[in-house]
Amino acid sequence: MQNLIDGKEYSNILLNKLKEKIKELKDKRLPKIVIIQVGNNLASNKYIKHKIKSVEKIGMLCDFKKLDENITQKDLLEIIENLNNDHIVDGIIVQLPLPNHIDSTVVNSVISYKKDADGFNPITLGNVMLGTSKIFPATPNGIIKLLEWKNVEIKGSNVVIIGRSNIVGKPLANMLINKSATVTVCNTQTKNTANIAKKADILISAAGCANLVTSEFVNKNMTIIDVGANFVDGKYCGDVNFNEVQDNVKLITPVPGGVGPMTIACLLENVYELYLQNI
Ligand code: GUN
Repeated sequence: MQNLIDGKEYSNILLNKLKEKIKELKDKRLPKIVIIQVGNNLASNKYIKHKIKSVEKIGMLCDFKKLDENITQKDLLEIIENLNNDHIVDGIIVQLPLPNHIDSTVVNSVISYKKDADGFNPITLGNVMLGTSKIFPATPNGIIKLLEWKNVEIKGSNVVIIGRSNIVGKPLANMLINKSATVTVCNTQTKNTANIAKKADILISAAGCANLVTSEFVNKNMTIIDVGANFVDGKYCGDVNFNEVQDNVKLITPVPGGVGPMTIACLLENVYELYLQNI
């Protein structure tokens, strides 16, 4: 398929580059990530499995802590504090979503910015907004890398993002503004999102709503990035009605095989960067 942006292909290129860098470390201590999961969310199980597989593939070290659903926030924060103080840990992630009794904003602000592999700590996010960060939230960074890989012009382009989450929409909007794009961020209260989307050069859907983006949202010169990760009747799909839209746009990412693998590659790039700052 000619207009497909193959995130699996590019993520493999990035992972192989990381693997080479880790091989070159020879006798030095290897970079280490700690992945924390609270409870047994089925989607999280799947994402974590992919993350661990990629970590092993490139030769990093990984510790996976699966914690009881009922752990208190206080106990979770204590575990994170201990990891913050453990010199051989370079990156920490707490897989989201968390159970309702735990506040993810508090958790992400307790993970030290020096070990913030996800890029969700307020200090990291402040630096991302200012354009002074070396660490970026992985999904937004993966999206920008895909656009640059396919030579999609960001500077001066009209970008529409559907979704204002703290982990995709908000940081992505700031990163694109820093690259001189004109950015519109739509949310559930936006009036006539389809009309706004239709004028975009780049449409990024991160709404978490299957079949949201239909032919009314697109134009022939558009690049579509589908960040959706939805399960419909047991099938994994994005936010875009792919079959309806694919032939009516310039470039499009598939789900699966688009943004998802890029998120993992960019997460591990963050861990490597944190490692360099930590040794
Ligand atoms: N849940 C969905 N995406 C992510 C992510 O990038 N990091 C974490 N920690 N949890 C997530």
